[in-house]
Amino acid sequence: MNSFTTPVITIDGPSGVGKGTIAQYLTCKTGYHLLDSGAIYRALAFGAAKNQLALDDIAGLSKLAESLPVEFKATSILYAGEDVTSKVRTEEVAGVASQVAVIPEVRAALLQRQKAFSQAPGLIADGRDMGSVVFPNAEVKLFLTASAEVRAERRVKQLKNQGVDANITQITQDIKERDERDLNRSASPLKPAEDAIIIDTSDLDVNQVCQKAERLLWDKGILK
Ligand code: DC
Repeated sequence: MNSFTTPVITIDGPSGVGKGTIAQYLTCKTGYHLLDSGAIYRALAFGAAKNQLALDDIAGLSKLAESLPVEFKATSILYAGEDVTSKVRTEEVAGVASQVAVIPEVRAALLQRQKAFSQAPGLIADGRDMGSVVFPNAEVKLFLTASAEVRAERRVKQLKNQGVDANITQITQDIKERDERDLNRSASPLKPAEDAIIIDTSDLDVNQVCQKAERLLWDKGILK
């Protein structure tokens, strides 16, 4: 590890693959900062609706992205001072987030803001293009995968635990549509960086994925 740079660990992959849980686990283990980049795109989607911006208003969305009033406080997401943590976690906001995320100008406007999270003692960054675009020099790059069906089943279980009724067919379709947009957009499409370590989580439970990721950090000398 270069002793003059802040170590960054990136965790990329599609919706519902468990990136958030693994990122939080590794944040606790390392004591590093956490960047949930999806929450920034979700906050932008929330802000677009609040400001009644159309999804084809590229100038308006880019301008909002440049000065997005989003802040992270412990486990909360604030938008212009309002706690919007549960409001931005809905499937509806996720769908809009994946639509604003296809706009190259929006991605460019959010780039510097994401890079600024890289601060001592280190950063765990979770998203779609953390290892490929935002932090190309990251120390360790993980890319998690699982089939859309497995991810939909996990999501339905999670929603049921929260007392929310969920339709597996609808959730599977939503996940596939989001995958399609995330994979096929021209700007920063969802794809593993060349030096990413790919972990297929289809047959692993979340604890097994956490253990696997932790072992990699020991092997790389990040955990000592
Ligand atoms: O990780 P998430 O589900 O909270 O992300 C919501 C949407 O934001 C996702 O559909 C794609 C987009 N996104 C992105 O394009 N690039 C990122 N680094 C993170 C999220």
